Amino acid sequence: MNRHCVVTGANRGIGLSFVRQLLERGEHVIASCRQPGKAIALNSLTGEFPGRLHVLPLDVANEKSRAELVRELPLVLGKNGRVDLLINNAGVLHSGERFGQVDAAILEDSFRINAIGPFMLTQALAPHLADGARIANLSSVMGSITRSNEFRSPSYCSSKAAQNMLTVELAHALRARGIVVLALHPGWVQTEMGGDSATVAVDDSARGLLQVIADATLDDSGHFLDWRGTPLPW
Ligand SMILES: NC(=O)c1ccc[n+]([C@@H]2O[C@H](COP(=O)([O-])OP(=O)(O)OC[C@H]3O[C@@H](n4cnc5c(N)ncnc54)[C@H](OP(=O)(O)O)[C@@H]3O)[C@@H](O)[C@H]2O)c1
Repeated sequence: MNRHCVVTGANRGIGLSFVRQLLERGEHVIASCRQPGKAIALNSLTGEFPGRLHVLPLDVANEKSRAELVRELPLVLGKNGRVDLLINNAGVLHSGERFGQVDAAILEDSFRINAIGPFMLTQALAPHLADGARIANLSSVMGSITRSNEFRSPSYCSSKAAQNMLTVELAHALRARGIVVLALHPGWVQTEMGGDSATVAVDDSARGLLQVIADATLDDSGHFLDWRGTPLPW
């Protein structure tokens, strides 16, 4: 039986690669993005994998949008269907922040998308998660307080650090159901966010992360790992 996987921010970048690779493995994927009507690459996969890809709208920062996804989910999952894998992939990096001119609105937007969104979505989806499910929160080494050594992208770094703490909280909350929750750094990846100098190909990162997710046990829940499974300091 194929599993049900939910991916956020699935229209481009690492999210799109997750969707393609999961479909190639025979999984059933619910791919969400802000504007499905404009998600050309994602929508083209619907024809390639008939009946196994459902594209639903979701702005992770918007409470009404999250509630709408949770309302629609049972229609896609079927009567007793459950989510086996949730990948909280959507994220934002507002670059170019300078000390003295950091904007509270940018900090708030980063926290809403990178930290609050994934936590609230997971909480709202919890009744629909299978016991023993996996939750992968796409974090970043830039959210590591230990590794921080310069003033750089405070909105992104602090929102990913907050997301890391919320990942640990989720791991505690869901442990009794055997659900594994991970904070995952994808490497420096060749996407719009990673930019031209990035070192890791998108498909390699997504493939590595899917392997890390597959290999994880309940003992790994609440841990911070990179795309090769190497532990990272908080
Ligand atoms: N690339 C890297 O080097 C790198 C390194 C460390 C961590 N990461 C993390 O990996 C994840 C994926 O990054 P990426 O490189 O694939 O980034 P990307 O190419 O910039 O794609 C970001 C994705 O997130 C979506 N998104 C942004 N805000 C959203 C919102 N409010 N609601 C729903 N979707 C939203 C975007 O949708 P739109 O098209 O609608 O904007 C897009 O699909 C992110 O969490 C990122 O922080 C990436």
